[in-house]
Amino acid sequence: MTKIGIFDSGLGGLSVWKELNRLLPDTDMVYVADSGRCPYGPRPTEEIISFSREITEFLISEGCGLIIVGCNTATAASIRILRKEYQLPFVGMEPALKPAVAASRTGVIGILATEGTFRGTHFQDTKATYAADATLLLQVGHRLVDFVETGQLTGDDVRVCLEAYLLPMLEKKADQIVLGCSHYPFLKDTMNAIVGDQARIIDPAPAVARQAAKVWANTGYPSAGNGQTFFSSGDLQQLKGFLSVIAPAQSYDVRKLYRPDSPFQNPQAG
Ligand code: DGL
Repeated sequence: MTKIGIFDSGLGGLSVWKELNRLLPDTDMVYVADSGRCPYGPRPTEEIISFSREITEFLISEGCGLIIVGCNTATAASIRILRKEYQLPFVGMEPALKPAVAASRTGVIGILATEGTFRGTHFQDTKATYAADATLLLQVGHRLVDFVETGQLTGDDVRVCLEAYLLPMLEKKADQIVLGCSHYPFLKDTMNAIVGDQARIIDPAPAVARQAAKVWANTGYPSAGNGQTFFSSGDLQQLKGFLSVIAPAQSYDVRKLYRPDSPFQNPQAG
């Protein structure tokens, strides 16, 4: 076990990989972008659980001793089950309600996430634990995952779409806006330009990376020095293009997920 595995429905979990690679530059990591089946947000919970199992088994077979579920939607659907079924540590994405509530002066907090994250008990539990007295404005970020998957991180379409989500939150006095989907931090520049100093945008990736680094240190596993490997079940050119923007100086290996016996490895097979 010499590697850290990270997975997401697509490129969003790279927001966590980027932070973790900064903290642990010499640690081998394997990233799985399930872009061939992205988005997960509208999919039924059972399906997301089954995808999460497939990817977990793949990452274990690649030598991973810690898995980061770099996807809020998959965390909400499956992390409890993964922790029960597999004998290795998992770190997941949490909507950052705790720091938002601590910093809020108005008590109004905006949350942008997928429908999969808002559905079910995981989000309700986090809300009950950290934000029972706050006013939460929940907004599904329709189209935002698509923008990131296609490398459209700025521009008029992105701005107009984000304005429709963020301006009503500001009108209702939200002073903290939580990004509850790992894709959304890549749109942060446009979000900050819209909200200015009226609200703080909370990106959970640095806190998740710090937590993962701690858990990894506790495992005591060494690194084999193989570097960074990125797999995608979708378009490899999109992944390569995205990496060249977010990590221009990094060297890495990019590979297609393919194994004839598994639909996960070969999305075209069905
Ligand atoms: N990156 C994802 C998340 O954190 C998933 C987006 C999606 O596939 O719908 O929720």
